[in-house]
Amino acid sequence: MITDPRSQPHVEANLADPDFWSGPDVETYLQYLRRHEPVTWHEHPESGRGMWSVVRHEDVRLIGKDSTRFVNRYGVRPHHDAESGVVQPGTDGLITQDAPEHGPSRRTVAPSFAPRAIRGLEGRVRERARAIIDRLPESGTVDFVTSIAARLPLEITCDLMDVPEQDRDHLFDLSNLTIGDQDPAYGGTPEQGQHAALEMRRYGAALALERRRNPGDDVLSAFAVPRSDGRVLNEQELGGMFTLMIVAGNETTRTAISQGMLALTQHPGQQATWMGDPVGLQARAAEEILRWGTPVRSMGRIVAQDTELHGVTMRAGDKLTMWYCSANRDEDAFPDPYVFDVTRDPNPSLSFGGGPHVCLGAHLARLEIWVLFRELFDRFPDVHVVGEPQFLRSILVSGIKQMDVALT
Ligand code: HEM
Repeated sequence: MITDPRSQPHVEANLADPDFWSGPDVETYLQYLRRHEPVTWHEHPESGRGMWSVVRHEDVRLIGKDSTRFVNRYGVRPHHDAESGVVQPGTDGLITQDAPEHGPSRRTVAPSFAPRAIRGLEGRVRERARAIIDRLPESGTVDFVTSIAARLPLEITCDLMDVPEQDRDHLFDLSNLTIGDQDPAYGGTPEQGQHAALEMRRYGAALALERRRNPGDDVLSAFAVPRSDGRVLNEQELGGMFTLMIVAGNETTRTAISQGMLALTQHPGQQATWMGDPVGLQARAAEEILRWGTPVRSMGRIVAQDTELHGVTMRAGDKLTMWYCSANRDEDAFPDPYVFDVTRDPNPSLSFGGGPHVCLGAHLARLEIWVLFRELFDRFPDVHVVGEPQFLRSILVSGIKQMDVALT
C-alpha cells in the first residue's frame, strides 16, 4: 500500500543504481519526487557520468516530443555514455538517429508496422501462439518466461525479417546479453553486452546484404534496398537496424507478457472481467498491462541546449532520463494510478514513449499481448503464477528472468 510521502521523512534513494529497482522504496520514492522534486540529479558507477531524472507524466511527454532540445544520436540507454565506447553515435538504428536522418529511415519501414499491416498479421500471431501453447504439458509447472512469454515475440520479430529458423535461438541468447548487461545472470557486464550486440550486428548486416541481392517483402529487405530518397544504408547502419528490431521487439514484449501474467494472477478479479468480454476488452486490457508493467522503464536523451525545467538548469551535453514507470503512476494523469484496472479508459500510458521516436512496434506488441492471453486462458483457464518471480537487474527494463506458472 502506498503511503503519503509527505507524512514520511525524505527517502534517500538513487534511480541510477540498478539495485534500487528491486528494493522496497520504488513507488514511495517516485511519488515523492513527482510531488516535490520533479527534476533531480542521480549518479552511480554503473550508470556512467550521471543523469537528470524526469518523473512527471507531463514532463516526460513533452521531452519525448521535443527533438530539438533533447537528442537521441549519442544513445538512449540511460546507463551508457556516448564517450564510453559502448555507444556508436547514430549507428544503433532509428532510435539513435535525429532529424534529418530519422524521418526518411522511419518511413522506409513504417508501412510494415501500420495498424492495417498489423491487423493482417493476426492470423499468423495466433498460429504461433497456439503452437507455443500446444507444446506445453497438460498440467504441472513451467517457467512462463522461457516457455511462453519469450517465444512469441522472438518468432514474430524473426518472421518479420525472415530470419532463418536455425539461427533464432542464438539471436535470442545474444539479445538477452545485450539487454541484461547490468545483470550477472545474463552475462552481466557492459563489455559482454557490447560483444553480443556486435555479433548480432554483424549477423544482421550479412543477412541484409544478402537481401540487397535478393530482396523479399520482409522488413530487413526494406532497409537493404535503396531508400526513396536514393540513400543506400552502409553495412554498419544495416546491422544497427537489425539489432534494434531484435532487441526492441523481443525483450520488451516478453516483459509485457510476463508482467501481465503476474498482474492477472495478483488480481484474479481483473482476469475474470477481461475473460468475461475477451474481444471487447482486449485493447484496454493490453494497454493497462503495458501501463502497469511498464516494460521499458526509462529512455535517455542528451540535452542539446541549456534548458530550464522546474527551476533546474540542465546544461547542453548533460544526460537526461525519462522515467516512464513513474509517468505511468502519475496521479495527475491517471485516477487511482495504483489500481490495476483492465477497463481503464482513457489510458494515456507512456509505455511506448511519444513524439518522433514513439515505438514503431506498438500495434504489433498490443496484438501479441492480447492474442497470447486469449489463447492461453482459453486452453488453461486457471493458469497462475506460483512462487517468487526473478526480476532482471536493470535500470532500463522491468524484465522478469524466471517465473513459474501452474498449468491446470
Ligand atoms: C511491449 C512491447 C514494447 C514496448 C514497451 C516498447 C517500447 C518502446 C519505447 C519506450 C521506445 C522509445 C520511444 C521514445 O523514445 O519516444 C520504442 C522505440 C522503438 N520500438 Fe518499441 N516497444 C515494444 C515493442 C516493440 C516491437 C514489437 C518492435 C518491433 C518489432 C519495436 C520496435 C521499436 C523501434 C524500431 C523503435 C525506435 C523507433 C524510432 O526511433 O523511431 N518495439 N519502443
